Amino acid sequence: MLVEKYRQKEPFVYHPEIVILPTSYDVDKYAATKFIEQVRSKPNSVLTLPTGSTPEGMYGLLVQTHKESGLDLSQLTTFNLDEYWQLPSDHSASYASYMQRNLFQHVNIPVTQRHIPNSEAPDPNIEAAHYEEMLTKQQVDLAILGIGPGTTCHIGFNGRGSAIDSRTRYMPLDEQTLHVNAQSFPNPNEIPRGSITQGIGNILEAKKIMLLAKGVDKAWGIQRTLEGPKGSEAPASFLRFHPRVTFVLDQAAAQLLYKKTSGN
Ligand code: F6R
Repeated sequence: MLVEKYRQKEPFVYHPEIVILPTSYDVDKYAATKFIEQVRSKPNSVLTLPTGSTPEGMYGLLVQTHKESGLDLSQLTTFNLDEYWQLPSDHSASYASYMQRNLFQHVNIPVTQRHIPNSEAPDPNIEAAHYEEMLTKQQVDLAILGIGPGTTCHIGFNGRGSAIDSRTRYMPLDEQTLHVNAQSFPNPNEIPRGSITQGIGNILEAKKIMLLAKGVDKAWGIQRTLEGPKGSEAPASFLRFHPRVTFVLDQAAAQLLYKKTSGN
């Protein structure tokens, strides 16, 4: 078990790869290129996918490549990182709607090969267990992540206090995330208070991980994640335990890093 390996060998040092690019568009292009390389080298890849504003540009470029160059995604299997709980799945702010709008309706990934937790499940714990079971039957080849806003340093919805070996589960949303999300909900009564998310343990089981961060709002979190102590206070810092993780940053997100090259 991968997490056991981390425990036995700790402390040890891995060196995350850090790629710093001039603009946010360069991050989109880099991420789309890596996605396409993955699919071309292994058409039946299993991918973990994020939502949010960060990957929108990457998805746009993938759709463009599919339409213009016939990028074939028919053998791909996808697992989203997370979904709100207690939100109609056809609500425009649900991650199911997001994925439909930004990727799925434009490309040829069969419906049966796309997975997102059910935001309408009556019991989030049962839904989380079901998602965990589907996910762990597969080996994820590449997990693509964003990082939470402000000081959250969340990946998926694994907020502060999440353990390195956490599994798919119900997680309440932290205050900063609720605040940011309020922009997507004109009716404040509709704002979901919780989510179903892959755990840190699930994410770390991917063969490769690529975290994307753009903009000054991510600068503090990126510095804390890469240069602060590893631990539950900054859940994204656990990625530094993974042997093949790349942080793809624009200049704005990288601006507070002391050391702007790969290293631990
Ligand atoms: C979304 C997810 C979250 C986001 C994070 C950043 O699936 O897992 O961790 O990646 O909240 O969101 P944006 O990109 O909107 O800043």
